[in-house]
Amino acid sequence: MKVLLIGSGGREHALAWKLAQSPLMEAFYAAPGNPGIAEHAVLVALNVDDHAAVTAFCEEKAIDFVVVGPEAPLVAGLADVLRAAGIAVFGPSAAAAQLEGSKGFTKDLCARFDIPTGAYQRFNNAPKAKAYVRAQGAPIVIKADGLAAGKGVTVAMTLDEALAAIDDCFEGAFGAAGAEVVVEAFLDGEEASFFCLCDGKHALPLATAQDHKRVGDGDTGPNTGGMGAYSPAPVMTPEMVERTMKEIIEPTMRGMAEMGSPFSGVFFAGLMITAKGPELIEYNVRFGDPECQVLMMRLKSDLLPLLYATATGTLDKVSAEWIDDPALTVVLASKGYPGAYDKNTPIEAMPAETASAKVFHAGTALKDGKLVATGGRVLNATATGKTVAEAQARAYALVDQVAWENGFCRRDIGWRAIARDEN
Ligand code: AMP
Ligand code: GLY
Repeated sequence: MKVLLIGSGGREHALAWKLAQSPLMEAFYAAPGNPGIAEHAVLVALNVDDHAAVTAFCEEKAIDFVVVGPEAPLVAGLADVLRAAGIAVFGPSAAAAQLEGSKGFTKDLCARFDIPTGAYQRFNNAPKAKAYVRAQGAPIVIKADGLAAGKGVTVAMTLDEALAAIDDCFEGAFGAAGAEVVVEAFLDGEEASFFCLCDGKHALPLATAQDHKRVGDGDTGPNTGGMGAYSPAPVMTPEMVERTMKEIIEPTMRGMAEMGSPFSGVFFAGLMITAKGPELIEYNVRFGDPECQVLMMRLKSDLLPLLYATATGTLDKVSAEWIDDPALTVVLASKGYPGAYDKNTPIEAMPAETASAKVFHAGTALKDGKLVATGGRVLNATATGKTVAEAQARAYALVDQVAWENGFCRRDIGWRAIARDEN
């Protein structure tokens, strides 16, 4: 099979690493890719926003299958354009990507198909949103409706915080994403991420993960795209997985089909495990970053046929096998992230790797043959172990072999799972 992978982050490096191991792979390209991905695929300097250019490249190289990593091209309709050109694509249509692109869309779907989630209201002006928040009281959650790079959510523990967050949204802090606001009940419990492939008619559960969103040790400081993750999520017992499939994933799959936008791709369900059971916080329509890195480390099966079956409506014909060992990833980020940070700082040394202890590249580039950090999140030190504690020790052993002055990381990734194991 001739494959094009779209994206350039740590998630895409993990996908590329795994896809490249497939005996079915004949030719492998990535656009735009990064230096880590370049170890597995030929990088192509395509402008991913130029759908015609991506299609033309696929036709020129006779690409059989396109795997789209990030959400932005999906929300922008890249999968639709490629499918219209007769190319198989892993990733949902723009209509189905609304599940991630609009929080209000997802909340309305939950209401219509009886999917457990926090009670909510949608607002397009501040006074009405504020009146509702005053009536509900804190804690309460304020969300910009659209894509805001994971930063559009305020979990307000006080009324003042909630009112300020409403002003931020309507005053343009998240641009167009904040023109509509969703106000949602605060859900109390433990968070987990659940990944499940779906071809529109069939769903194949993959695995679970937990991430660390806050920038600082002890889960303190501002939210980020994720400073680390581990899989599996101990809170996702087989019973919780079964309930999530029945109460959340299956009604979503049926609902999307019934509304004329069948979902094809990966459901990344952000869940809160409350006293009542699993409740949906949000959907993403792509693999998590850095959750994907730990999933790929644990996947025994060939990834390519799984993604291809998703794209071609044959998920009922395949299965996914996992190693039992947990995997853990630590994100190394540029000092200052998630705020401003210096770019093009040199990474002087990288660790030696094995199949079960590997550093994925996220925001790196080669400048004059030297590796430099170009992004906020830059490297993902990822390892498996017999226990989460062992996976953590192996991941930090990788971290300690990275020589990068301008980098930092959290030192406690996995603490909750390790504390649970110790009890
Ligand atoms: P989201 O972008 O919707 O995943 O929200 C970001 C984070 O905000 C989530 O991972 C949760 O930690 C938190 N959050 C979102 N919605 C709620 C809610 N209804 N109750 C409690 N925490 C929430
Ligand atoms: N790590 C969270 C995300 O990918 O959205």
